Amino acid sequence: MQAAKVSDTPVEFVVEYLLKAKEIAENNANVPAELHDNLQKALDIASGLDGYLERMSSQESEPLAELYRKSISHDWNKVHEDGKTLFRLPVTCITGPVEGQVLKMLVHMSKAKRILEIGMFTGYGALSMAEALPENGQLIACELEPYLKDFAQPIFDKSPHGKKITVKTGPAMDTLKELAATGEQFDMVFIDADKPNYINYYKFLLDHNLLRIDGVICVDNTLFKGRVYLKDSEDDFGKALRDFNQFVTNDPRVEQVIIPLRDGLTIIRRVPYTPQTKTQVKSTVTYDEVFRGVQGKQVLDRLRLDGKVAYVTGAGQGIGRAFAHALGEAGAKVAIIDMDKGKADNVAHELTLKGISSMAVAADISKPEDVQKMIDDIVSKWGTIHIACNNAGINKNSASEDTSLEEWDQTFNVNLRGTFMCCQAAGRVMLKQGYGKIINTASMASLIGYRYTCVHDKDKENGLEI
Ligand SMILES: C[S@@+](CC[C@H](N)C(=O)[O-])C[C@H]1O[C@@H](n2cnc3c(N)ncnc32)[C@H](O)[C@@H]1O
Repeated sequence: MQAAKVSDTPVEFVVEYLLKAKEIAENNANVPAELHDNLQKALDIASGLDGYLERMSSQESEPLAELYRKSISHDWNKVHEDGKTLFRLPVTCITGPVEGQVLKMLVHMSKAKRILEIGMFTGYGALSMAEALPENGQLIACELEPYLKDFAQPIFDKSPHGKKITVKTGPAMDTLKELAATGEQFDMVFIDADKPNYINYYKFLLDHNLLRIDGVICVDNTLFKGRVYLKDSEDDFGKALRDFNQFVTNDPRVEQVIIPLRDGLTIIRRVPYTPQTKTQVKSTVTYDEVFRGVQGKQVLDRLRLDGKVAYVTGAGQGIGRAFAHALGEAGAKVAIIDMDKGKADNVAHELTLKGISSMAVAADISKPEDVQKMIDDIVSKWGTIHIACNNAGINKNSASEDTSLEEWDQTFNVNLRGTFMCCQAAGRVMLKQGYGKIINTASMASLIGYRYTCVHDKDKENGLEI
């Protein structure tokens, strides 16, 4: 027999009360049909919500599905009675698929690389977040019960993302102290453990710089079954969360919002210092561009190329292709220039797949008309050029004594004359706008040739052949 479902969220309680009201109404002949009708409509809306959210959210991965099935079918009462856990863990502890998907989205959106989870249970939230971390990302999960680490680890091992998770067992506050002592810092923290300690975890994280500026703390159960706002509720956990919510609301170091998802999920962002929040630091602060960043941007954001137009010659392969990807990843629109239109098209397609605006242009940069046409094509499509990456070059690799003058001319027509023509044509566009960057690449081959000649000559003097 299936256990009766226990209400755990404000919506589930609304459904429970509406069902009771409906039953009372059905047993009372005096209740007007209109009231029945309205009760049913309210019930349909409230009872349909969670299922709909679940069906319309992306499907969880197979390791997550297995973790969920294994967690909800486990006999947690027996585990506790057998002395394997300190506390009786209710199955409602688990972060479900919709909340897991929300956490995963937040990791993607914030581009977090280091995450801290306080209260892991069987690891559903941990694995959801780890799935969104980059390959070198790290998630540290604090969990009181060693039994849960052993429960979760075999499933973490089945996931390609499990290796990003490190579980630290013991009271979370001890782990936080250890992390602070070694100067650790996180981009995102998920607090989902013992409710009365939420406020202590939160204070510790902010007071000890465990959360970076602009970092995010997500906190679960912050509506606590509605008891945080119900006037007559004297529930201890509800009261702890009410105090917690109020403390966060009054804290000038952060901004926050409660999302009414399941039992409430608060998203808190640690805001950068501004004079309005000057209570945070001593008045000796010089609030200038050095402190707040030029244009209010931190240094790595200032290195981004969002909105810039770039081209790369010889971008159909090799290092030119790598330049094109790198400029595009940094935010620029990139024109892929190559003699071989097929290769240029392929690289432009690769960039499009990565969401980068790109165009392919066929041009032989040793021909003045091709150079001018490539510049005109870019300017007519994107209005200007900010970054010229003159990378195209050839090397026929002949020994100096065998190099024909035709080969010499061909090489210098591309490598020097062609590069000059590109600089000139792009430079004219840049001069008009008073801004531009030109990157001309040369080859290590020039140094290798120089060294070879030196060694070769010296060895000849010594009567050696190489
Ligand atoms: C609500 S569950 C966490 C659910 C989990 N985030 C998930 O994704 O399924 C709360 C967990 O916090 C753990 N916990 C409670 N008190 C703790 C403490 N002082 N230190 C560390 N973990 C604690 C419990 O053992 C339990 O596993």
